[in-house]
Amino acid sequence: MVQRRASDLHGGLGVGVGVSGGRCIGSRRPDREGDGEERLRRAGKRREAPSSETVGERRREGEEDAVGVGVIRYGIVGVGMMGREHVLNLHHLREEGALVTCVADPHPDSLALALQLHRSLLHHNNNSSPPPQAFSGHRELLDSGLCDVVVISSPNMTHFEILMDVIHHPRPHHILVEKPLCTTIEDCRKVIEAAKKRPEILVQVGLEYRYMPPVAKLIEVVQSGTLGQVKMVAIREHRFPFLVKVNNWNRFNVNSGGTLVEKCCHFFDLMRLFAAANPVRVMASGAIDVNHKDEVYDGKVPDIIDNAFVIVEFDNGSRGMLDLCMFAEGSKNEQEISVVGDIGKGEAFVPESIVRVGSRKEGRAGVVTIKAEDKRIKYDGLHHGSSYLEHLNFLSAIKARGSGAPSVSLIDGLYSVAMGVAGQLSIEKGRFVTIEEVLTG
Ligand SMILES: NC(=O)c1ccc[n+]([C@@H]2O[C@H](COP(=O)([O-])OP(=O)(O)OC[C@H]3O[C@@H](n4cnc5c(N)ncnc54)[C@H](O)[C@@H]3O)[C@@H](O)[C@H]2O)c1
Repeated sequence: MVQRRASDLHGGLGVGVGVSGGRCIGSRRPDREGDGEERLRRAGKRREAPSSETVGERRREGEEDAVGVGVIRYGIVGVGMMGREHVLNLHHLREEGALVTCVADPHPDSLALALQLHRSLLHHNNNSSPPPQAFSGHRELLDSGLCDVVVISSPNMTHFEILMDVIHHPRPHHILVEKPLCTTIEDCRKVIEAAKKRPEILVQVGLEYRYMPPVAKLIEVVQSGTLGQVKMVAIREHRFPFLVKVNNWNRFNVNSGGTLVEKCCHFFDLMRLFAAANPVRVMASGAIDVNHKDEVYDGKVPDIIDNAFVIVEFDNGSRGMLDLCMFAEGSKNEQEISVVGDIGKGEAFVPESIVRVGSRKEGRAGVVTIKAEDKRIKYDGLHHGSSYLEHLNFLSAIKARGSGAPSVSLIDGLYSVAMGVAGQLSIEKGRFVTIEEVLTG
C-alpha cells in the first residue's frame, strides 16, 4: 500500500503566497493605484481587457465598454484545475465583455497558480491590467462587491454551502456552478427553493457536455426528428482514472457524491435530453476493481467505483444505458454515444468529433459521417471547447437581462444528480431504484 497525503501529491510548488482568515492578497499596490502617470500608461495599453477599477466606474455609471458591450465582472470560487480553466475561458471571452476581477480559494498554491496564469495571459497579450483580487474564502469575495457573476468551481461537497451563501447575499450575483449541482438531492432541493426567492439571479449548472460540438450536433439531429421517436440511448465513457485533486477530495463518495454523481451526471443529463423525458427507475452494477486500490489517505482507502453499467428507464418508454470504464486508456474515443429512434440512428464520437447518421430505410450504405465543429470556439481547453461555449451561452443569458433563461437549469442539475444517486443506491442494494424513491427519500 502506498501511503499518500495531499502534500505528497501537490506539495513542492514553493509559491510564496500567504493567505489567512479572509485576508485579501494579490491586490493592487496603493502606490500604483495613486500614480496618475502609471494609470494612464496602463489605460493606454488596456485595449483587450479593461481593469477592474475601470469596470467598477463603468458599472456605477452604467456605461458600456469600447466595443459597445457591457463589462461583466466574474469572481471564481475555487481555482484548482477547473477554476483555472474558467479563468482561461473567460480570458478568451474578454472581447464579449467578460473580466475576472477576483478569485477565492483556501489553498495558497491554487491561488498562486491562478495569479500566475493571469500574469502569463496578460504578458502574452501585452496587457498590463491589474491582477484579480485574491481571497481565501467565498464570503470575502462576495462582500468585496467586485463581481457580478460567481463561478463555483470548488470541490463538490462545498457547492451547497457556497451556493446558499451566494443566493442569500444581499448583493445579487449570477451563478455558474460546476457539476454536480450538489452531492445530495436534499441539498439540491434546498438550493432550488432558495433560488426561487431570488428571481433576479440567473443560475446555470455546468453540465457542459451538451456543448461539445459532436454532442451538440447529435442533439440537433435528434431534436429535428430525423431519427423518429427515440427509443434507446447508449453512452459509453471509456477513459483514464480520476485525476489527483487538491487534498484528494475526489477519492471518497462522501466528498464527490460517488462516481455516478460526480462524473456521470453529465451523461444522465444527456440521456434526459436525447430521450426528451424524465427518468423513472435505475438499475446499476459497478465496483472499484482496478484503480486507487493501493492508495491510502489518512488511513482510508478510496471508495469510488471505477466501472459500471447503468440502465435507466424513462417515462416515455425509452431506455438509456451507461457503460463506464475508468481504466480504458487504450480507447480511440473517450465518449461514444448512440441514439436510436424508430426511423434512424445517430452516433457521436469524442474526441474524434464525428457524428454519424443513418436510417433503417437506407441501411449501412446510407450512413452519413459529419465532422462536427463550432467556429465560435476560440479556446478548446480541456473539454473540446464546451466550457467556452457554456460561458458564451451564460454570458448572453446575463446580457439579455432576464429575458434569456440559462440553458442548463437547476432542475436539470437536480435530475442529473438524482439519476446518479439512484445508480449508486442500486449498486449498494442490488435492485432497481425508482427516481421517486430518491427524490422523496
Ligand atoms: N465540467 C467538467 O467537466 C468538470 C471537470 C472537472 C471538474 N469539474 C468540477 O469542478 C469542481 C472543481 O474540480 P477541480 O477538478 O478543479 O478540483 P481541484 O481539486 O483541482 O480544485 C478545487 C479547488 O477548490 C479549492 N477549494 C476547496 N474548498 C474550497 C472552498 N470552500 N472555497 C473555495 N475553494 C475551495 C481547492 O483548494 C482547490 O484549489 C468540482 O465540482 C468538479 O466536479 C467539472
